[in-house]
Amino acid sequence: MKLCVALDLGSAEENLAIVEKLSGLDLWFKIGLRGFIRDGWRFVDSVKRLSGAPIFLDLKLCDIPNTTADAALAIAEGGADMFNLHASAGIRAMSAVMDRLSALKTRPLVLAVTALTSFSAEEFAAIYNQPIENAAIAMAKSAQSAGLDGAVCSVYESRAIKAACSEACITLCPGARFEGGETDDQSRVATPQTARQERCDFIVMGRPILRASDPKAAALQALSAFC
Ligand code: C5P
Repeated sequence: MKLCVALDLGSAEENLAIVEKLSGLDLWFKIGLRGFIRDGWRFVDSVKRLSGAPIFLDLKLCDIPNTTADAALAIAEGGADMFNLHASAGIRAMSAVMDRLSALKTRPLVLAVTALTSFSAEEFAAIYNQPIENAAIAMAKSAQSAGLDGAVCSVYESRAIKAACSEACITLCPGARFEGGETDDQSRVATPQTARQERCDFIVMGRPILRASDPKAAALQALSAFC
């Protein structure tokens, strides 16, 4: 299991200060919509230079197949190590992405977003008209058949997705929280220990590390669940 720290602070300077504070730890960094839209590839390059860590570009692409594939190629050429698109963009969009990346010598890992971890069961059913686990498994299976490397899901779907797809299907699970900590806007949260039991490959943690008085100690606390 790997820890991916979400760089979701209000400026590039604040995010880079966190990267510096976490130096020396075996981590991935996640750059999301706000950081990338505001600070662009310069920021991605700064994080890479400062940390040497791999970068997950969390832009959750969702568009028609050709546009999604164009964006995926730009992301790969920009130097991200992993990125994601919504499974609900459909199998044609996912296949178009993998087809477009197939010309590259090396490509980033590509994950399909299944059900956002902020959804409660009721909110999800109101949009998708089915239970989260069924939909997450179906989405992960269609991502697998399109050739993607894995799925973004909650800790609670990780085991079922691996059983339905394969053990090699990467599961990346946001919503990691320490026991008794704030859940914020997340609904399906879990501790790093539970994530490990559920065989998640990556956990994503943002606010519990970003707002800790000692972010390195918080990251080490999360990493302590890994062994
Ligand atoms: O602060 P917190 O730990 O909740 O941060 C979680 C991060 O993971 C956020 O950057 C959020 O955008 C991202 N994310 C998520 N749920 C998904 C995919 C990504 O929370 N399904």
